[in-house]
Amino acid sequence: MLGVCYYPEHWPEEWWADDARRMKDLGLTYVRVGEFAWSRYEPEPGRYDFGWYDRALDTLGAAGLKIVACTPTATPPKWLIDRYPDILPVDPITGQVRGFGSRRHYDFSSETYLRESIRITTALAERYGKHDAIVGWQTDNEIACHDTALSASPNARRAFQDWCRDKYGNIAALNKAWGNIFWSMEYRSFEEIEVPFLAVTETSPAHRMAFRRFTSDRVALYHKAQVDILRAHSPGRFITHNFIPPTDTGIDNYTMCRDLDFASFDNYPLGRTDVWMAKRPASEFRPYMRTGHPDYCTFLFDQTRSLAGGKFWIMEQQPGPVNWAGHNPRPLPGMVRLWTLEAFAHGAEVVSYFRWRQAPFAQEQMHAGLLRPDRTPSEAWPEVEQALRELKLLDLAPVPGARARVAILYDHEAQWLGETERQADSYSHPDIMVDWYMAARRLGLDVDFIPADGDAAGYDIVLVPGLAMPDAATVKRLGDSGALLLFAARSGAKAKDVNLPEGLPPGELRQLLPIRVTSVGTARPDCPEDLVWRNHTYQAFTWFEALELVGEAEVQATLADGSPALVRKDNALYMATLPEQDFIADLLETLCAERGVPTVRLPDDLRIRRRGDLVFAFNYAAVPREAPAPDHAQFVLGSRSVAPRDLAVWRVPS
Ligand code: GAL
Repeated sequence: MLGVCYYPEHWPEEWWADDARRMKDLGLTYVRVGEFAWSRYEPEPGRYDFGWYDRALDTLGAAGLKIVACTPTATPPKWLIDRYPDILPVDPITGQVRGFGSRRHYDFSSETYLRESIRITTALAERYGKHDAIVGWQTDNEIACHDTALSASPNARRAFQDWCRDKYGNIAALNKAWGNIFWSMEYRSFEEIEVPFLAVTETSPAHRMAFRRFTSDRVALYHKAQVDILRAHSPGRFITHNFIPPTDTGIDNYTMCRDLDFASFDNYPLGRTDVWMAKRPASEFRPYMRTGHPDYCTFLFDQTRSLAGGKFWIMEQQPGPVNWAGHNPRPLPGMVRLWTLEAFAHGAEVVSYFRWRQAPFAQEQMHAGLLRPDRTPSEAWPEVEQALRELKLLDLAPVPGARARVAILYDHEAQWLGETERQADSYSHPDIMVDWYMAARRLGLDVDFIPADGDAAGYDIVLVPGLAMPDAATVKRLGDSGALLLFAARSGAKAKDVNLPEGLPPGELRQLLPIRVTSVGTARPDCPEDLVWRNHTYQAFTWFEALELVGEAEVQATLADGSPALVRKDNALYMATLPEQDFIADLLETLCAERGVPTVRLPDDLRIRRRGDLVFAFNYAAVPREAPAPDHAQFVLGSRSVAPRDLAVWRVPS
């Protein structure tokens, strides 16, 4: 169930067999190779050199390892860029061409690059598609990482114009949909359309939203070309991609996943926590500096699991300090083992460490591996051994189709709307999602994610931290699901082209809730307002809507001025503001009670997760914590008192 990322091209060939043997001896099953080696597969234009790769794959295969091969398109080689400079993207903030010298230096809209990526993918797929040791493929690497989805290149402009022609049919329709009469922005033809960057002040939100949709479509098209080739040439092998959070890439991962067998995630708990908590006070950050935050990575596990059929891998797992965050602490002893088992608790099928051996050269020489550059085992090594022993003991069966009772609806367009139409600097749809997720996890709930066009039926409760521009069918489907639905403020805020909906927001949501948002005010996050619910006073932040009732509905909570903060009609609840997390947890607890979903109040640093008939508890605290296990629980790992940075697993006999 464990694997590792390996770069044979980084090491003398004499080491390969020994590396493979040590991987096998350690107990690893999978090895991922080849995602950055284009300059070795094809050292000169059209001259392939596959001899070394044949030998590397054969060596790994002969040791009994299962290989995940990759397409190398994240790193086009120098000669390719020199030959076809139009492959390079243009930075939308500076307008400068982004150059060669690192990675991901390509433009999703470059037809040249699409052709070249098809060519190299075909060459690899034809040669290795049926290789005995190859069990699956990874496409590219962390698509759109390093802010590479958006480009302001001439290629992007042309492709965007074509996309607009396709979507709007005639230019008058586009002008109307985007409101281009405003500020004399009207176009006379599709050829006049600009990319929405580098203007004097803000460009139109409709224009920017269209560009986001176009970009996401373009990434999906580029990616699908590789998937189709691999499918055709590599029967019986899986195809996956290693995702990073969609907040970083701004693309619609659900669409990208349509053709994949499952999604993978690259898990760097300390790096992610450092970046995500960068602006939090040290008092909040410090307890998790060397453990990672207990909710942030699992939030991403649960999201990744939802992308393609409920199955996921961790393709890259942090094994020690990384090199790319603001600061890069060393994990506390025990954390690599804890993170590994936590991924399995959330349904992962494989965890693969990044990387086998730390490289003594280039950009990532300060990034740990399972081995140090001198080939001695790093601190993570015995923890991997321990995780393996424990996994054997747990004997986890796959859990296809396992479902939580609570889901979060993930609408990528809500993220895009927050980034497209400011209105409040501190409004962040991704932060609202994490906040609501944390509220659920504090109650000991397992959480699934579903896409906006997904199936909510069967869930008791669906949290909707934002649903930006829903159409009538989506709202109807949600309403028909029978789930209790909690909508965050700003849901239904816009019609399709980022215009105010007819009859005011929440537009189509009025099918479920007889309300109108008559006005919106926003405030600095350090200027909260009181929110009163069941005689308790909470705080609400950033976003404040004036709600008018246009039919019968119950006002369940109010703001300080007496205006509605929470309205309910039948199964649907709508919040007019963004409340503190305690409120979400308290409200969710009552909704769970209403539906008979069991909850348990957990301290912030203790988390539980069910997999099959096993319950896992993870203690991120510096002190022992008690596992909330029933009296008759049979402990498989650990015991009721969970030591600091340790875990326990129990079975509940039925
Ligand atoms: C990942 C990436 C790897 C490596 C790693 C370092 O995001 O896929 O190639 O750069 O980060 O942590």
